[in-house]
Amino acid sequence: MKNVPVYKNPKKSVEARVRDLLRRMTVEEKAAQLMQRTIGRDVNPENVGPDHPFDPTVGSILTFTAGAAARNAFQRIAVEETRLGIPIIWGYDVIHGWRTCFPVPLAQGCSFDPSLTEKSCRVAAEECWADGGVDWTFSPMVEVGHDPRWGRNVEGYGEDPFTNGRFAAAAVRGYQGRRPSDLKKPGRIAACLKHFVGYSACEGGRDYNYTDFSVRALREWYLPPFEAGVRAGARTVMSSFNCVNGVPAVANKEMLTDVLRGEWGFGGFVVSDWGAVSQLSLQAFSSDPAVQTLATLGAGNDMDMADDAFRNVPDLVRAGRLPVRVLDRAVARVLRVKFELGLFENPYVPELPREKTCRLPASLDLAAECARSCAVLLKNEGGVLPLDPKKVKRLALVGPYVDSPLAHLGCWRGMCSEEHAETPTLFDEAARFFPGAKIELERGVVAGANECVATAAYEKPDRAAIARAVRAARRADVVVVALGETGRSSGECRSRRDICLSPAQEALVDALAATGKPLVGLVLAGRPLAFPKTAEKLDAMLWLWQGGSRGAQAAWELVTGKANPSGRLAMTFPRAVGQIPVYYNAQPRCRTGYDEYQDLVGENGPWFPFGAGLSYTTFEYGKVRLECAMRNAQCAMKASVRVKNTGKRAGAETVIWYLSDLESTSTQPARRVVGFEKVFLEPGAAETVRLALKRKDLAAMQPDGTRRFEPGAFELSASLRASARFEVP
Ligand code: BGC
Repeated sequence: MKNVPVYKNPKKSVEARVRDLLRRMTVEEKAAQLMQRTIGRDVNPENVGPDHPFDPTVGSILTFTAGAAARNAFQRIAVEETRLGIPIIWGYDVIHGWRTCFPVPLAQGCSFDPSLTEKSCRVAAEECWADGGVDWTFSPMVEVGHDPRWGRNVEGYGEDPFTNGRFAAAAVRGYQGRRPSDLKKPGRIAACLKHFVGYSACEGGRDYNYTDFSVRALREWYLPPFEAGVRAGARTVMSSFNCVNGVPAVANKEMLTDVLRGEWGFGGFVVSDWGAVSQLSLQAFSSDPAVQTLATLGAGNDMDMADDAFRNVPDLVRAGRLPVRVLDRAVARVLRVKFELGLFENPYVPELPREKTCRLPASLDLAAECARSCAVLLKNEGGVLPLDPKKVKRLALVGPYVDSPLAHLGCWRGMCSEEHAETPTLFDEAARFFPGAKIELERGVVAGANECVATAAYEKPDRAAIARAVRAARRADVVVVALGETGRSSGECRSRRDICLSPAQEALVDALAATGKPLVGLVLAGRPLAFPKTAEKLDAMLWLWQGGSRGAQAAWELVTGKANPSGRLAMTFPRAVGQIPVYYNAQPRCRTGYDEYQDLVGENGPWFPFGAGLSYTTFEYGKVRLECAMRNAQCAMKASVRVKNTGKRAGAETVIWYLSDLESTSTQPARRVVGFEKVFLEPGAAETVRLALKRKDLAAMQPDGTRRFEPGAFELSASLRASARFEVP
């Protein structure tokens, strides 16, 4: 490797290569590394295209539909025709799959099985890398959500910080691999933890709105999932649109530098959210592009997404306003990740036929497994489920989502939308599961063509359609009604002021219930909805969420008992929108014995709590045993509980460990999750589930956001089914 520059020599350390390359770069070349352009299906004026020629020195491209061949063609120019040959890093929002679509992340949270998320992220990475030329996904979103009106809860793993942290780490391992050196392997891509931090606290659930939360909330809820993702090795973080204590996150040095790098040792780079640097003018921070660049780069936001805000960097350096040291710091972070990904050695992706890289049988089977483990059975009166196909001679399939592939795919479906013709619907799959039955399909409402509008506007109540559905129901032994919201009613910029069912669906359920036929509700949605009165009319309710490419298959496997529901809610369902926020790890009420609301008399608490979910079998919990009381900092406490399947079917039970701190100098949540484990048990089988807690796990949140251990009484509960109290001196 004589005469080869150090930065091109893979035998040299990443740090030596970064230093060597930086030394050779002009200010213009450095500035370009901090910019991300877009390409493909999009209307951004900065898009690469006729009006905005491709600059091969650009740091990153957000690729949309460019594809592997286009990526390689552009990359070739960057690598082979520029002075230094620095490869471009190609980013895209691969959120729950590329061409194989997995359940939306909120549904994945309900599986309480992060190992499935790790596997599905691995498949997504392999597919998007080979088929789309993507090296970097803007995922996982690990924001703790308390307000189901906010459309973006669907992108995260629910309301619990601990659970979100476990899923964050799993997703990072799936995309990147388990060891730092895995990143170089073909089909591994960089993960991006987003949106840092507190975006989900937008007031009123209105997307892009102001956020105001205490330092306690920041430390207790919003930061821990990010910390878990950083500790799992995430190489990039996206700063958020919102403010943290009045300072926009993209210009927030305390978050981007002191916490992220100082406290957690993050060594990758931070990208802004789309246009967030220029949007500082909307937040009345500053309309001066120079101030915007200086504030964001100075705070530790290294790359600007999509709006060319950092084009003024060379002038700012020349004017002596931006220290070269600050510029170099940001550029070094971007280059480091490119070296770690092996982009300098392997800048191109193989252009293989799609059948060889996407929607492989094993990937689709995994999608089915994920969808099965995410669905949550919330009601099953009289054991109406599972249905025995042999006993069903006529089946009425009703509702706006019985024949909608898009309702299974949800939002941020990436290239999966091109596959929607390949996504079987509930109707398509029904015959396979009820071979001897006559199946009738009736939507029961008039559904519009545009799934991007609010569900209530999408569906129109229609008397004739309801009458047809009722006639089909009368002829049937069982009626299955598919309710919920369109695939794009949740997601970015999809907040709702109400989370009820549409009037059309309410009217449909009323009419179907009046037939007296067994009525099974399947709900396809990307958020918690609140319709307790209408749900009373259903005999069973299975919450499918948006289950992806094999959502329909999984639904029928669960309905017919080929599989046993095992999902548990990762987010609390309110009874009514006025109850929001309602979440499990709230602080205790100061007084009891009083109704929470005059107009919800006797109906205190949520419609369905965090952790809710039924099974076709029953589980018995033994006593919670504390094997070793903790006496000093070294001694860990061990807890265990024996869980037995006492029913006649095999099934999986999730043991959720809750800790309650009963005595502390500042108030603590009534309980918080400190562990969980999902165990599969054959009928009659039992397993002992264990938990190890360190002294720091017992530490109480203080008013200043630090955690401090305080002696006193605690309670540890296993799924609220068994618990034990203990004292720690
Ligand atoms: C979203 C991000 C996303 C980005 C790029 C933004 O509007 O907030 O989550 O990664 O667009 O598509």
